Amino acid sequence: MNFTILRGETVGIIGGTGSGKSTLINLIPRFYDVTSGAVLIDGVDVRDYSFSELRGQIGMVPQEAVLFSGTIESNLRFGCLNATDEEMKKALKIAQAYEFVSALPQGVHSPVNQGGKNFSGGQKQRLTIARALVGSPQILMLDDSASALDFATDAALRKSIQNETSGITVLMVSQRASTIRRADKIIVLDDGEVAGIGTHEQLLDSCDVYREICLSQLSREEVGKK
Ligand SMILES: Nc1ncnc2c1ncn2[C@@H]1O[C@H](COP(=O)(O)OP(=O)(O)OP(=O)(O)O)[C@@H](O)[C@H]1O
Ligand SMILES: [Mg+2]
Repeated sequence: MNFTILRGETVGIIGGTGSGKSTLINLIPRFYDVTSGAVLIDGVDVRDYSFSELRGQIGMVPQEAVLFSGTIESNLRFGCLNATDEEMKKALKIAQAYEFVSALPQGVHSPVNQGGKNFSGGQKQRLTIARALVGSPQILMLDDSASALDFATDAALRKSIQNETSGITVLMVSQRASTIRRADKIIVLDDGEVAGIGTHEQLLDSCDVYREICLSQLSREEVGKK
């Protein structure tokens, strides 16, 4: 596969289960390395950065929402120990988590049990998104990170990422066509290969795999709507 993502773009990655979506984005922070070819950021091979330089520019929300034992605050500070209260508040707001966190009697000082078991799946997802946003990464990667959110919260999340983070590049993996259809660029994966790259409209015209995904999830009117 060969593609370029521009700074500030929002890129959707879609494809069936096992098609390689997580594998693809995990190459960027080097959870895996390529066996051939290369992944470049700003023209530099990811293998030529130090881990701290590389991962310092990336906010990663893995597919499994994992919280660490401690408090909400200690989770938010995980990648950025000296984050200010303002930064944490902003991250919680963008991640649509501020309301439920403020409603807790202890707010950000609320305890997080092992694995975050005292939070719901959707709450955990929003907290892991907030954690990734603390420290203002240049690249935000969301691996199916809104799967447990209702459609309205998912939409509010995308809108606030768009509006509240300036110049951030977003890679958004999703099984839901509705989540990625407005992305600047959509990468469609099928069985480890690129089936198509383009906008929603372009792919509807040119990519059978994408059209099938859309038709199975959206109404015909929605598929055609700009
Ligand atoms: N650590 C691993 N070792 C060996 N094979 C793996 C590993 N992780 C994933 N795979 C295989 O690589 C392929 C792509 O997996 P990947 O996790 O990237 O899919 P995905 O598109 O993210 O799927 P899903 O939508 O279920 O998350 C699958 O066939 C999977 O079995
Ligand atoms: Mg995956």
